[in-house]
Amino acid sequence: MYGIMNIAIEKLMSYMEERTKRGGLVNTKKVISGFTIDIIASTGFATETNANDDRAKESPFVKNGLNLFNFNPLKIASILALPRPILDFLGFTVPFPEDSINFFINLTRQIVLERKKNNVKRNDLIQLMIDTYALEFDGDKDDYSHLMAVMDEKETLTEQKQHSTKMKKTLDETEIISQAVLFFIAGFETTASVLTTIFFEFAHNKEIQERLFEEVLTIAKNTDTSNLDEYFDQLLKNAPYLNAVVSEAIRKYPPVVRLERRVGSDGIKVAGIPVDKGVLIEIPTYAVHHNPEVYPNPEVFNPDRFMPENKHLLVPYTYIGFGDGPRNCIGMRFALQEIKLCLGQIVQKYQFCKAPDTPKTLSFKKGSPMLNTLPFFVKISKR
Ligand code: HEM
Repeated sequence: MYGIMNIAIEKLMSYMEERTKRGGLVNTKKVISGFTIDIIASTGFATETNANDDRAKESPFVKNGLNLFNFNPLKIASILALPRPILDFLGFTVPFPEDSINFFINLTRQIVLERKKNNVKRNDLIQLMIDTYALEFDGDKDDYSHLMAVMDEKETLTEQKQHSTKMKKTLDETEIISQAVLFFIAGFETTASVLTTIFFEFAHNKEIQERLFEEVLTIAKNTDTSNLDEYFDQLLKNAPYLNAVVSEAIRKYPPVVRLERRVGSDGIKVAGIPVDKGVLIEIPTYAVHHNPEVYPNPEVFNPDRFMPENKHLLVPYTYIGFGDGPRNCIGMRFALQEIKLCLGQIVQKYQFCKAPDTPKTLSFKKGSPMLNTLPFFVKISKR
């Protein structure tokens, strides 16, 4: 998806170019949200948007995308606190504004139907799901090792195995719609939040910005940048400081502030405390990432913590911005690719500094289940 992502990055760069001609003030969160909408629209929904273009305000994709995270704090508090039957009675089934969620459901349905009808293909998430197939078992559905064993042999399923395994040719329409909508929900605000916080830190830390500039410039000089595959591969694989900046942003400002796990069996102890089966455990990511015993001076933005020479100082299971274990973030590689490619291009062309009203510290929306930065401005200038 390098090519598709690059189109969105170029749109962002042209917007920044425009801003530099008009004094360089950038409403960071708004612009980055526009960029991540362009990315998810094109990579996930086969929809071309230019969310930072003024004319895009009328685009239903952009309007509904931006509206999706206008949480109603009362609804969120109720969903977190009240039992399911009461929520059903109140009609509180999803935390998101229903008009907007329905827009994405209908859009995905239309795309899937059109592709199937016209036999059109495109290199995006919906296509991956249309092209994939799943295996259904007659036997124990929870038997993970059995599933993996059959998946490994999927190309050479014998006659006999095919009898005991129902083959489904593709994911069905509802499954594809659910996954696509989930990708939007899980992938839009989180990624936008990370880039926004990085630009905030750049405005306050010239040194960090310059060090990153040197690193990506060296890569650009030593690579054939017209060969997008090669150039982007280098940015993703051979830029330790770029990786460290992104990791530190997710450490200091984890977009998902806590994880949840439900106790699956009896006789479990958590930190020595016995917990009953079915109990919900909340893992406070933000608090873990700000624990001074694990991350000294936690309020300082210090990418060096994640440089290869310091990796031995990191404590296992204390970096949980993408969660951990078998149910960690499935979009992690996609998100890191999007963030790193965007940063790699932007810092080569633009410098960030404080605008007169750039706050000293970031503030976050109250009543949101995520770390949602409140809008702020930074100033950019061309290198
Ligand atoms: C910087 C960006 C992102 C962050 C910080 C993030 C963070 C997280 C976290 C903390 C979880 C819960 C993991 C756990 O409980 O162990 C999660 C789950 C998930 N994320 Fe992300 N995410 C990001 C981007 C994305 C993107 C781009 C997508 C999709 C394209 C995505 C799709 C998902 C899905 C589907 C799950 C549920 C996985 C499951 O339950 O098996 N995420 N993410």
